[in-house]
Amino acid sequence: MTVKQLADLDVAGRRVFVRADLNVPIKVTDTGREITDDGRIRAALPTIKYLVDAGAKVIVAAHLGRPKGVPSDDFSLAPVAARLSELLGQPVVLAADVTGASAKAVVDALSDGDVAMLENVRFDPRETSKDPAERAELAAEYAALADAYVSDGFGVVHRQQASVTDVAELLPAAAGYLVLKEATVFDRVLNDPARPYAVILGGSKVSDKLGVITNLLPTVDKLLIGGGMCFTFLAAQGHQVGDSLLEADQIDTVRAIIADAADRGVELLLPTDIVIADDFSATANTRVVTADEGVPGGWKGLDIGPETIDTYVAALADCQTVVWNGPMGVFELEPFAAGTRAICQAVADLAAMTVIGGGDSAAAYRTFGLDEADVTHISTGGGASLEFLEGKTLPGIAVLRKD
Ligand code: 3PG
Repeated sequence: MTVKQLADLDVAGRRVFVRADLNVPIKVTDTGREITDDGRIRAALPTIKYLVDAGAKVIVAAHLGRPKGVPSDDFSLAPVAARLSELLGQPVVLAADVTGASAKAVVDALSDGDVAMLENVRFDPRETSKDPAERAELAAEYAALADAYVSDGFGVVHRQQASVTDVAELLPAAAGYLVLKEATVFDRVLNDPARPYAVILGGSKVSDKLGVITNLLPTVDKLLIGGGMCFTFLAAQGHQVGDSLLEADQIDTVRAIIADAADRGVELLLPTDIVIADDFSATANTRVVTADEGVPGGWKGLDIGPETIDTYVAALADCQTVVWNGPMGVFELEPFAAGTRAICQAVADLAAMTVIGGGDSAAAYRTFGLDEADVTHISTGGGASLEFLEGKTLPGIAVLRKD
């Protein structure tokens, strides 16, 4: 799909409303609210800097968490505005509201090249309303603040929300650099992957990944499965999974996927050994069992085992395209981190097109201290990257289509 780009917009001296995804993890400490991963803020910089250098009056709009339409200090964008200001090296004035008197005053005071931020757009219940008329009303208020719209929040392009879709209909609109980069990368892996092409899927629930598997099976050469979702696959093959995560209602579906993969000649790799524990804790008793032995009752699988790691790393070695979404185990706890760490390292070591789906996998990659420059792309979108891989039309991108 061809979308309108920044170069298509006249921005010099004009007020430009930029929807970014600055929904970063925040921890509350004795000294206040601290950002623990500023990756999404850094990812928004190229577009904001371009607009600043082009002499636009930049209005950044974003959400933080899910405050359910009620203003609250706990969800204020204040720490985000402060970090954006540090990274840009210039002031970022934060309005006290979304489209009220403070927002209007802050926008009116902007000079060319200045940056302001609206408060959390989800403080206004109309932002996420299911009623199009309510969203349209808020979108009109956004549009009154600006002369042009830039969509750069890839993490929200799967949402039909006032600042993502509705306002884009009211102003000259274009994709920012981040949305353009993400959309280009996902288009490539979906439609024109260099081969062999492997997809690694993990995470806890197989039901969250069924859409992705169904959409990708016709295209991939290898599908590697780990994480909590692997136990539904192992159970479908008749293995004992003990107290591991299991979606019993998905076993028939998973059996059909296994058969479909075989019919299509897709190499489907499942763990042959598993790290099991007698408790979900870093101090649990642990041991490694083979999938054939199975997980005994009272024990649960929390990571892929060492033999599986070797097999998976070897399977990736000749691949020219690798997409990874979802951890291989409970990487937040050291005894169950080896599988995810090994996949991170393997993806970083490959001289291939490598794409890490957002959310937990991106967090894992950064937690293990690996260099972002060693992969082709780390997506800033969690749900959005999954929906892209499911082949869905994302409303926040469709609205930017070039006629
Ligand atoms: C995300 O964190 O994936 C995005 O910011 C979207 O957030 P949401 O799921 O609350 O819409």
